[in-house]
Amino acid sequence: MTIHIGAAPGDIAQTVLLPGDPYRAKWAAERFLTDARQVNDVRGMLGFTGTWQGHPVTIQGSGMGMPSLSIYVNELIRDYGARTLIRIGSCGAMQEQVALRDLILAMTATTLGSPSRGIFRELNFAPCADWGLLRAAADAAGAKGTQTHIGGIYSSDVFYDERPDLNEQMVRHGILGVEMEAAELYTLAVRHKCRALAVLTVSDHLITGEALPPEQRETSFGEMVEIALAAAFAES
Ligand code: HPA
Repeated sequence: MTIHIGAAPGDIAQTVLLPGDPYRAKWAAERFLTDARQVNDVRGMLGFTGTWQGHPVTIQGSGMGMPSLSIYVNELIRDYGARTLIRIGSCGAMQEQVALRDLILAMTATTLGSPSRGIFRELNFAPCADWGLLRAAADAAGAKGTQTHIGGIYSSDVFYDERPDLNEQMVRHGILGVEMEAAELYTLAVRHKCRALAVLTVSDHLITGEALPPEQRETSFGEMVEIALAAAFAES
């Protein structure tokens, strides 16, 4: 048990999927895991552990934004021994060729600064995904025929953005989409010699202004969970 996770030692699997929304963690655990049981409800940030094709898996909500994710991922890695951490979340598209419901696999994540910024000082550290996970997720998405984009994303600190010029620079520099967590996940994972990836579905579009209706988010979300699980346990 840690400050923010009430699970007993051994209740968390080495492979952890991290949706931002704790109710998505519940939904995914009920739908995709066998014998899923709730292992955390501290602050309502639900976590579940079960098995997928015989492999132990935990699905733990991370909350929104890098400071929240940083708390959970630090404790999952340092106190519970998590080794493979895959964010499953939504993002806003920043390129015209990216459509609603498409999948984005984040090769890198640009930020203004993550909670790890303090240790880098003048360095511009480039957080990047684990290559084995990225390749395996690309293969799994290809096998399903999911429209997939692989490249850089922007991990922003704000959903309600008052700096459109920053988004413009991201668009100009080929950034595929914006979310709020991946850069800190990648930084923590590499610091602790773990594997990490962010698998994202496009829920809204910053250029066209379109957004997925809530009932359609579930289908895309399910496909993303399957791709994340296949990637986690692919033979490397
Ligand atoms: N901005 C930031 N985070 C997001 C967005 C967005 O437009 N869509 C989904 N997560």
